[in-house]
Amino acid sequence: MSQSQFVSRCTADAMVLAAQKLKDGHLVAFPTETVYGLGADATNKTAVAQIYAAKGRPADHPLIVHVHTMQAMGDWAEDIPTYAIDLARDFWPGPMTLILNRSSLAQDFITGGQKSVGIRVPDHVVALALLNAFYAIGGKGVAAPSANRFGHVSPTTAQAVKDELGNYLQEQDQILDGGPCTVGVESTIIDCTGDMPKILRPGAITAEMISTSTGLDVADSVDSNTEKIRVSGSLEAHYAPAALVLLDLQPTTGQGFIALATTPTPKDVVRLASPNNDVEFAQTLYASLRKADELGLSYVVIEQPTGSGIAVAIRDRLMRAANGR
Ligand code: TXA
Ligand code: MG
Repeated sequence: MSQSQFVSRCTADAMVLAAQKLKDGHLVAFPTETVYGLGADATNKTAVAQIYAAKGRPADHPLIVHVHTMQAMGDWAEDIPTYAIDLARDFWPGPMTLILNRSSLAQDFITGGQKSVGIRVPDHVVALALLNAFYAIGGKGVAAPSANRFGHVSPTTAQAVKDELGNYLQEQDQILDGGPCTVGVESTIIDCTGDMPKILRPGAITAEMISTSTGLDVADSVDSNTEKIRVSGSLEAHYAPAALVLLDLQPTTGQGFIALATTPTPKDVVRLASPNNDVEFAQTLYASLRKADELGLSYVVIEQPTGSGIAVAIRDRLMRAANGR
């Protein structure tokens, strides 16, 4: 990929140019607070098809539409329940995706043919600047999956996006550098098409926060295998590095090791991360898994955090990273 595609100074002018790239049907990878996304104009079928091509992702997997403000959810969704409005007010911009009944704007190439659409207002200055600039030139929303090849670890830096997708982007596409992501794991996905909110993918917005915001019980479908809605993150072996991920074992010589700082490093083990708490664990996890691959390690042993809060999302991703391998 050429240097001009990699934008390291995200000035207002650069955001106007990037928004125009989107409008012209090109791809723009951009930072969010969770992970980097690979964006395309969500109303442009050809542009969206390029996302699938660059990721190597099956075409029937739905994409999240990113918008600049909660008001824009009305463009993309209909019959929005009151509790979804409560959630949007409390947590947007933020690491939360709402699954809502789609409007006619959300076509099959976004929803994977489903009657629902995923919407999110990300909490990152660069993402919001891009979405605002896109809106200013008539854009409705930016479809963006995580900017990794299908099944791989999501990128949390612009360099990781370049490493993942550099060979698959076109000359006119761009990668915006907004620094390392502060949350580090993907948004909480909440199905808002029923009477009560249902978590489809855990994230930084927890069941407790959802319940407090809405006054409703929260269904947790994460462990259910009867789930009809397609969530690609719920396939086996997702979020996975090339190294084999082993959970809660004693690491042996030459293996990578990730654990909270309170756990000492066993002899002859490659310590990849020593986060001080669960928030830091989430922030550093994906970069640590990438480092394991850069070092050519065959195994990474991870001591899972045991708490609630974001630890639930960390364990969910680790289970999938370790799954079926
Ligand atoms: O934090 C995030 O959500 C990041 C950043 C870039 O916003 N995006 C992200 O996108 O993780 P992706 O495509 O890698 O994962 C989104 C998940 C997919 O598993 C997809 O199947 C699910 O959301 N999804 C999207 N629309 C859906 C819908 N209508 N119903 C059910 N699941 C949906
Ligand atoms: Mg993804």
